[in-house]
Amino acid sequence: MNTKFKNDINEGLSKLSKTLPSKYFYDKIGDALFVKIMNLPEYYLTKAEFDIFKNQTKNIISSLGIKPDTYFELIELGAGDGTKTKELLKVLLSENFKFEYLPIDISINALNNLEANLNNELPDLKVTKKQGDYFSVLDSLKTSKHPKVVLFLGSNIGNMEDERAKNFTLSLSKSLNTNDRILLGVDLIKSKDIVLPAYNDKTGVTKTFNLNLLNRINKELDANFSIEDFSHQPEYIEKEGIARSYIVSNKDQDVFIGALNKTFHFKKAEKIHTEISRKYNDTVLNSILENSQLKIVTKLLDSKAYFADYIIIKT
Ligand code: AVI
Repeated sequence: MNTKFKNDINEGLSKLSKTLPSKYFYDKIGDALFVKIMNLPEYYLTKAEFDIFKNQTKNIISSLGIKPDTYFELIELGAGDGTKTKELLKVLLSENFKFEYLPIDISINALNNLEANLNNELPDLKVTKKQGDYFSVLDSLKTSKHPKVVLFLGSNIGNMEDERAKNFTLSLSKSLNTNDRILLGVDLIKSKDIVLPAYNDKTGVTKTFNLNLLNRINKELDANFSIEDFSHQPEYIEKEGIARSYIVSNKDQDVFIGALNKTFHFKKAEKIHTEISRKYNDTVLNSILENSQLKIVTKLLDSKAYFADYIIIKT
């Protein structure tokens, strides 16, 4: 039994305003559902960032300040299946840049799959996979004096509350040397009619993804949530640029969680906050980076200007 999971669920459901952490979306079923989400017509984020990597690869390379004859380390935090990164890797190889690719992930499974795929598709690429949490791995890389480029794509930073994003970028800044760069992919603040459908698709995949958290609690913590008695409710406040997902109780009900030997009451229409998907602009990012030694150099946008890859430098 995963004690951290149990404690986090207990803590979140015991609050006055109930919460469940979105990091627990990603069990095997959640991973597969997220792949489906990335292919949904409404979920523009992945396609927009892919557009930047595919069509502006040369711009990315020139704004990263790297030179073909200076060896550098290309580090990726949470590499996933590497679809976008491969576009960059292909061009770097064809232009004879000297570098090593270091994907970092908590999941050794994800890293093994990525490595096998890269060995097959890009046999000339030097891949050194690093399993662990981002900061212990980044710390271990700090001693290397080679210039570093860190990729953090997919608007994953958007799933952090602002305070957490500040701590995250501050730690990242501390792991880097002067002139190292970060390529940070973020979804941009835009109108509700574009953002909200991305979290409320017609076919209901995102609903299943959100409610899968209850299935996971049922399976792993011996609980009796009846999934059909809860709904998926995404909200987006354009002024703040923040999308939030909730699970809403359809009726007054009690749920027993065996692993906690505890009953939780849900009122009709009570909301459980599961996820934040913050959207960015220059002002928001500057305020996140405020107390770090990180500065925005430039940003690259997709053809619809939905998404930005910010190039950030450690000063
Ligand atoms: C992983 N992350 C950037 C996604 C997002 O857009 O916040 C997770 C997601 N949640 C619902 N749909 C996609």
